[in-house]
Amino acid sequence: MTDASSSPVPPVTIHRSDYRPPEWQVPDIALDFALGLDTTRVGAALSVVRHADAPAPLTLRGDGLTPLAVRVDGESWNDWHMAGPDLIVDLGDRARAIVEVDTAIDPTANTQLMGLYASNGMLCTQCEAEGFRRITFHPDRPDVLSRYKVRMAGDKTAFPILLSNGNCVAKGAGDDGSHWALWEDPWPKPSYLFALVAGDLVVNRDSFTTMSGRKVELGIWVRAGDEGRTGHAMQALKDSMAWDERVYGREYDLDLFNIVAVSDFNMGAMENKGLNIFNTRYILADPDTATDLDYDGVQGVVAHEYFHNWSGNRVTCRDWFQLSLKEGFTVYRDQSFSADMGSAPVKRIEDVRLLRAAQFPEDAGPLAHPIRPDSYQEISNFYTATVYNKGAEIIRMMATLLGPQRFRAGTDLYFDRHDGEAATCEDFVRAMEEGGAIDLTQFRRWYEQAGTPRLKLTLSEDQGQWALDVVQTVPPTPGQPEKLPMMMPLRIAAFDRSGGASLPDTLVTLTGATQRIALGAFDGRPALSVNRGFSAPVIVDFDRAQGELAWLAAHDDDPFARYEALQQLMLDTLVAAAAGNEVDHRAVVDAVAQTLRGRGEDPAFVAEAVLLPSEAFIGDQMLTVDPDAIRRERLALQAAIGRALEEEWRAILAGKAPPATDLSPHAKGERRLRGVALAYLAATGIGDIPALVFGVFSDADGMTERQAALATLAHGDSDERAHALDIFYQRYRDNPLVLDKWFQVQAWSMRPDTVEAVRQLAEHPDFTLSNPNRVRSLYGAFTGNQAAFHQADGAGYRLIADLVIALDPRNPQTAARMIPPLGRWKRFDEARAAMMRAELERILAQPGLSRDTTEQASKSLL
Ligand code: PHE
Ligand code: ZN
Repeated sequence: MTDASSSPVPPVTIHRSDYRPPEWQVPDIALDFALGLDTTRVGAALSVVRHADAPAPLTLRGDGLTPLAVRVDGESWNDWHMAGPDLIVDLGDRARAIVEVDTAIDPTANTQLMGLYASNGMLCTQCEAEGFRRITFHPDRPDVLSRYKVRMAGDKTAFPILLSNGNCVAKGAGDDGSHWALWEDPWPKPSYLFALVAGDLVVNRDSFTTMSGRKVELGIWVRAGDEGRTGHAMQALKDSMAWDERVYGREYDLDLFNIVAVSDFNMGAMENKGLNIFNTRYILADPDTATDLDYDGVQGVVAHEYFHNWSGNRVTCRDWFQLSLKEGFTVYRDQSFSADMGSAPVKRIEDVRLLRAAQFPEDAGPLAHPIRPDSYQEISNFYTATVYNKGAEIIRMMATLLGPQRFRAGTDLYFDRHDGEAATCEDFVRAMEEGGAIDLTQFRRWYEQAGTPRLKLTLSEDQGQWALDVVQTVPPTPGQPEKLPMMMPLRIAAFDRSGGASLPDTLVTLTGATQRIALGAFDGRPALSVNRGFSAPVIVDFDRAQGELAWLAAHDDDPFARYEALQQLMLDTLVAAAAGNEVDHRAVVDAVAQTLRGRGEDPAFVAEAVLLPSEAFIGDQMLTVDPDAIRRERLALQAAIGRALEEEWRAILAGKAPPATDLSPHAKGERRLRGVALAYLAATGIGDIPALVFGVFSDADGMTERQAALATLAHGDSDERAHALDIFYQRYRDNPLVLDKWFQVQAWSMRPDTVEAVRQLAEHPDFTLSNPNRVRSLYGAFTGNQAAFHQADGAGYRLIADLVIALDPRNPQTAARMIPPLGRWKRFDEARAAMMRAELERILAQPGLSRDTTEQASKSLL
C-alpha cells in the first residue's frame, strides 16, 4: 500500500527564498507501533501548539498514507481533508490540541527503503530527509522539534530486540507471544532523526566515560555471526567520542549509544539520535573480508555519524537548503579526525582526489549547484559531493583563515548559541565572524556561487624582484551566468633551486579578480609551490616546465605539494599524448624512480604519489574527452614506468607483506605500494606476471592483497584471471559485502568486452536490484570505468539507461543517482553526446517516472 501512492506528482520546485516559519509546533509526540513485516499499525499522538497569530489549519505531510482514524483532544474528529498526499486538520481557533492519527503501513512492500521497511526479516527506518511522512502524518520539516515517546510491540520470536532513540524506560510481555518496549528521548529532535529497529540481532557491548564522568553504554547490533567483525567500528566510536571532547570540547549527552547495521540501505549511514543506522559495509570489517580502504571507510563513517550528534542533532538545520550546515561541517570534522588517527598528508591526498573525481565534474556540468542550493524538486537529489565535500572545503578555508584558536572560538560560539535550535548556514558564518574576529562578507559568496574557481598564475621579474600575478575567474553555471571573485586562502612558498634563500610557507588571502603577490628577490626564476595543502578548492592554471615540476616533486617541503607536482608532471604528459602529440616518458619515469627511493620511510605517501591520475581526471583537462586515446596513452605510460622500473616493482613484491592484522599506517602503506607495483608490472605484459600476480592472490593472508591481485588479473585475459575469479566466488559467495567486490572488479576491468560482461553479470543469480550495494558494485563501478561506459557504439549508455528504467519504480533514490554520468554529454564528441542525450530522453519518456529521476534527467539535458 505504500508504493502505489508515492506515485508521480508533477514536479514542483521548492525555493529557498520561500521559507516561512512553521505555523504549528509539536513539542511532544507519542508513537505506538504494532509491528509486523506486512502490516505495521502506527498510532501517533501529536501535541500541537499554534505559533501563527491567527487561526490556521494544521498541515500534516503524508506520503502513501491513509488516515484510519483522526481524534482531537480525545474526541473523534471530522474536520479534516486530504490535499494530495497530505492531511489537513481544521482545529478552529484552538491554540493547542492533542491530534491523534492512526495509520497502517506495509514495510515489506517498501522497496524505496525510505520510512519503515523490512530488510532480511528485520524492521528498520530511514527518515532523512522526508521519510517520516511515510510512517505517519506529521509536519516533517527539520524546524519542528519534538520530544518523542515511542511504544513498540511485536512478536517476541520475530523481533526479540526492540530499539528506538534515547533510553528504554519500560518493557514487558503479553501472553500471546508478544512483547513491548517503551523508549523516551529527552532531547527535542526533528522527525528526520527518528529511528526504530526491531529484529533478531546480537550486540557487541562496550562503554565510554565522558569527560564529565557520564558512563555511556555502547552497543553495535548486527545479525548473528557478524559480531566478530564489529571490533574496528567499536574502537572507531570510542576514538571519535574522545576526539570530539579533545578537539571541539563536545561530549555525548545520553546514557546509551546504539548502532545497528542493515544490509539494505540507500546511503552510507544515518545519524538518528542515540540510534545510528548503518549500511553493513561501514560497520563490518575483519582482515579476511575487508581491505585497508574498507577499514578506513568504517572508521571515517562511524566518526561522521557520531560527530553529527553535535553538528546536526544538537544544532540541526532550519530547512533542507541548509543541508551543508550539518554535512559540510561534519565531513570536515571526520576528515580532521581521520587525519589525526593516521597519516595527515595521505588523508589530504585522498580527500582531494575524491573532490576532483566527484565534485569538480558536478560543478562543471548541468547539475552544478551552490553548497547552499536555491531550489530543488526532490531533496534526495541534493545529497551531493558539492553539499558534502565542497561544503567541507569551505569550512576548511574558514579554519585556515582563522587559525586553530579562533576557529575553535567560532565553533564554541556556534554550538553554544544555537544548541537546541534549527540553524542556518548564515548562523554558522556569523559565529565564525564573531568568534574569530574576521569579516567574512565576501567569503559568503562560497555559499551562493556554484562552479570551481580558476586561478591563472604568471610569474614576473623586475630588477631581481619576483612577483606572482593571480587572475581569478569563476565559470558560469546553470542559472548563474555572471560571477564575482571569491575570498580564499592561498598557501604558497617559493624556492631558490640553486640553494639560495626561499620564501617560506606563506598564507595569502585572495580577494580580487586580479592580485599581485610580491615574492622577493631570487637568482633566476624560483620554483613556486602553490595552493599548498590544497588550501582552496580551485583549479590552478600555471605553465611550468617539466624540470621545475620534477624539482618540486623531489624537494618541496609540503608533502601534498610534492604529490601535486608529480601528478601535474604525469598529467601534462598524458594530456599531450591523448591529444596526439609525441611525448617522452623519461621525465615521469625519473620522477617516479626518485619518489620510490623514499618508500622505506613513508610507503603510503609514495604509493599515492606514484599512482597515475585517473582516466576521468585526464579527461577533465581536455577540451573534448577522448576516452579511447586516454586509456591507450595511460596504459602506455604505465607500461613504460613498469618496464623501466621493473627491478624496483619486483623488489617491492619480493619483500614479505606485513601481516593483514597489522593495521598501522606503515603496514597499510606497504600493502598499498605492493598493489601499485602489481598494476605497473601487469601493464608491461611481461610473460610471467600473471603467474606472479596469481601467487600474490593465493598467498594473501587478507583482503587488501587478495583484492588488489584479483583486480589486477581482472584487466587481462590470462587463465589465472578466470581461476582467481572462480576461487574468490566459491570462497565468498555467502558474504554479500565480499561478493560486491567480485562484481566490482569485473565492472572495473579494462578489457574490451566489459560492457557485455556487465550485461551478463546483471543476469547472474547473485545479482539483484533490491540491494543498493549490489547495484552500486556493478553499475556504479561500471560508470566509473570511463572507456567502457563511453564505448563508441553507445552500448554503455544503453546499459545504464536500461538500469535506471528498471530500478526507478522500485528505488527512485538509487536510480536517480545513476544519471549524472549521462549528463556529462557536453564534454564528449558529437556522436557520443547525441547518444547520451537520446538515452536521457528515453528515460524521461517512461510513464510514471519518479520525481527523483525526472529532476535529474531533465536537468541533465539542459
Ligand atoms: N545524513 C546521512 C549522513 O551523511 C546521510 C543520509 C542521507 C543517509 C539521507 C540516509 C538518507 O550522515
Ligand atoms: Zn552526514
